[in-house]
Amino acid sequence: QIPDITLNNGVTIPQLGFGTFQVAEDQTQRIVESAIETGYRHIDTAAGYYNEAGVGAAVRASGLAREDVFVTTKLRNGDQGYDNALAAFEASRAALDIDYVDLYLVHWPVPSKGQYVETWKAFEKLLADGAVRAIGVSNFLPEHLETLLAETDVVPAVNQIEVHPTFQQRKLVEVSRAAGIAIEAYSPLGRGADLESDEVTSIAAAHGVTPAQVVIRWHLQQDHIVIPKSNNPERIAANLDVLGFQLTVDEIEQISSLEAGNRTGADPATAEFTQFR
Ligand code: A2P
Repeated sequence: QIPDITLNNGVTIPQLGFGTFQVAEDQTQRIVESAIETGYRHIDTAAGYYNEAGVGAAVRASGLAREDVFVTTKLRNGDQGYDNALAAFEASRAALDIDYVDLYLVHWPVPSKGQYVETWKAFEKLLADGAVRAIGVSNFLPEHLETLLAETDVVPAVNQIEVHPTFQQRKLVEVSRAAGIAIEAYSPLGRGADLESDEVTSIAAAHGVTPAQVVIRWHLQQDHIVIPKSNNPERIAANLDVLGFQLTVDEIEQISSLEAGNRTGADPATAEFTQFR
């Protein structure tokens, strides 16, 4: 059983989830159903991934009670602003075809538009209305968090950011956690690139596990919520099979020494409406 993390409002989230970025719309239901069958109980999607309908269909087809699967979705950049965000949430809820969303995230701050504070006030309303169980942000830098904390009431439950051994964002992790915001790591495997290093492969060999399992353990043992993704059923299953071994403190440190500033995704300071429009 994958452990839960308790968020700052008391809601619990399975620490290991299934990511669906770039999972094709017409494949999503099948892939997410198989992930749920394999044992995943936390699915991460976004309006901007254009696959919410498949995620919702898979959750419904799973036969599990709604409360037994944790569903995250995100607001597209083009839908920021108070009224727009409320309308976009309804569109996501309709696409997912589920009563409530467990975690709703502002996908990017888009600082050039200056709308994320108003957007967040709409998120606070969704939370108060019970339409969502928790609200959070994604790709927020320290200055964006600082503005939100100063100008709004609800502290984000999570900040979902790019984190993997060669791109750890240590300062941002520290600033987020100091405010009570949990870290969710996306691209946790560095889109596969971080699996090739000698450190990771030799630690994997020592434990008789795969490099991906080592990197996922590295995340879990640092209390990251982690959402690896794969299109391959064996790798989807293997990525969840990470409770049978533990990394030593020394191994964690060896992996942490791989920091190299290797951002693989967009830079939140400049990411615009072109990303996840
Ligand atoms: P694939 O879909 O062929 O499995 P990230 O989660 O960091 O974005 O990384 C996703 C990438 O890592 C995908 O290209 C995926 O390819 C690959 N990947 C996912 N799980 C594994 C694994 N267990 N071993 C090797 N590559 C993996």
